Amino acid sequence: MTPEIDGARLLRRLTTLGQIGALEGGGVCRLALTDADKAGRDWLVAEMERLGMAVHIDAIGNIWGIRAGQGAGAPVMVGSHIDSVATGGLYDGALGVLAGLEMVETLNDRGTATEAPIAVAAFTNEEGARFAPDMMGSGVYCGALDQGEMLAVTATDGMGVLGEELDRIGYRGGDAPVIPAAYLELHIEQGPVLEQEGVRIGAVTGVQGIHWTEFTVTGQTNHAGTTPMALRRDAGQVAMRIAREADAIAAENGPPQVATVGVFELSPGLVNVVPETARLTVDLRNTDGAVLEAATARLTAFAQAVAAEAGCAVSIREMARFAPVVFDGGLVDKVEAAAQARQMSVKRMPSGAGHDAQMFAPLCPTAMIFVPSENGLSHNIKEHSDPDDLAAGAQLLLDLVCTLAGARA
Ligand code: GLV
Ligand code: MN
Ligand code: MN
Repeated sequence: MTPEIDGARLLRRLTTLGQIGALEGGGVCRLALTDADKAGRDWLVAEMERLGMAVHIDAIGNIWGIRAGQGAGAPVMVGSHIDSVATGGLYDGALGVLAGLEMVETLNDRGTATEAPIAVAAFTNEEGARFAPDMMGSGVYCGALDQGEMLAVTATDGMGVLGEELDRIGYRGGDAPVIPAAYLELHIEQGPVLEQEGVRIGAVTGVQGIHWTEFTVTGQTNHAGTTPMALRRDAGQVAMRIAREADAIAAENGPPQVATVGVFELSPGLVNVVPETARLTVDLRNTDGAVLEAATARLTAFAQAVAAEAGCAVSIREMARFAPVVFDGGLVDKVEAAAQARQMSVKRMPSGAGHDAQMFAPLCPTAMIFVPSENGLSHNIKEHSDPDDLAAGAQLLLDLVCTLAGARA
C-alpha cells in the first residue's frame, strides 16, 4: 500500500510559496525571471536540498530535484511551474511542484525506496505572460522550442531579454536530466467542470491547441473633432474590428473554440486624438487543430483586409503556436484506475489551459491529474481549491509514481 501524504504539510508549503510575490488582497505576482520568481526559486531549491535531492539547473533555467533510485534507469518525473501571471493565484503550477516535494518527503519519512529515480521539476516561464511563448522551459527541454531563440526573446513590455534575466537572477545552468521514463503533472483544473459536476479528479486526456498572435496597426494621429470619419486612418477602429472578428470566430465555430483579446493598447491614448497605433493580442484555442488553423488564417486575412481598407498598415507577429496534444491512453487509464482504487470520483476530460505536460507527450508516456477549482476561477487572485481536493490529487500522484518508479515495501 502506498504511504499516505500529509495534506497539511502540502498546504503549508503552498501558503509559504504564496507569500513570495504576494499581492495585496490575495494571490501572487511571480512573473518569470523577476526578483519574486528568483525568491521563489531560491526557496524551492533550498527545500529540495533539505529533502536530500540532487538539484540541477539547465541552460534555460529549469530546476530539477532528483531523488535517487536503487536502479540506474531514467527517472519518473513530476512537475509544473512556479512562475505566475501578474494576477496569479496560489495553486496554478505551484501545486504540481509542491505535491512533488510532499511526495518525496512522504517517501523519505517512510524510508521507501524506488527502483527508478524520481525527478521533481519546476519549468521556466510556463505562463508566457512576461516572455512569449508559454511552456518555454519545458518546450526547450523537450526540443519543441529552440534554446538560442528563446534565450534571445525580449519581454512583452520591452524590459529585459530572457537570457540576460536568467543571468541576473543566477539561474542559467547547464546540465539537464535525461528524458524521463514517464511524466505526470498534477494541476488545478482552472475551469468549472469538475466543481459543477461534483467530481473530485480529472484524468486529463490531452490539451487543446493554442495560437497567440499580436497585431500592430499603424495609422495617423489627427484631430478627433475636425477629421471626417471617411478621411481618418484610425488604428483604433481597425484594432476594434479585429477584436470583434475574433469574437465572431468563437461564436461561429462554437465550443470548444475560445477567443481572447488580452492586450489592447492605443497610442497616443488621448481623448481627442485619432489613435496612430494600436496593439492587440489574440489568444485562439481549439481541440481540433484544423479548425484552429483555419480560425487563425481567417483572422489574419481579415486584419490585412480591414487595415488596407482603412488606409492603415498592420504587422502580424506569431507569439505562440502549439498544436493540440493527446496524452498516453494507457497512462490516462492508470490515473482513472488509481482514483477509482481510492474511491475518488473521476472524469476523463481535455485541458483548456496549456501545461508543461503537453511538451512531454511526444517523448514519453505523459498524463495529468486535475483537481477542482472553486467557481472555475484561475489567473485570478481569488483562485482557490479545497484543501481536501489538493491532498487527494497529491495522494494520487504518489500512488501513480510509486507504481511507475517501482516502490519497495
Ligand atoms: C497557460 O497558463 C495558458 O494556458 O495560457
Ligand atoms: Mn499552470
Ligand atoms: Mn497559468
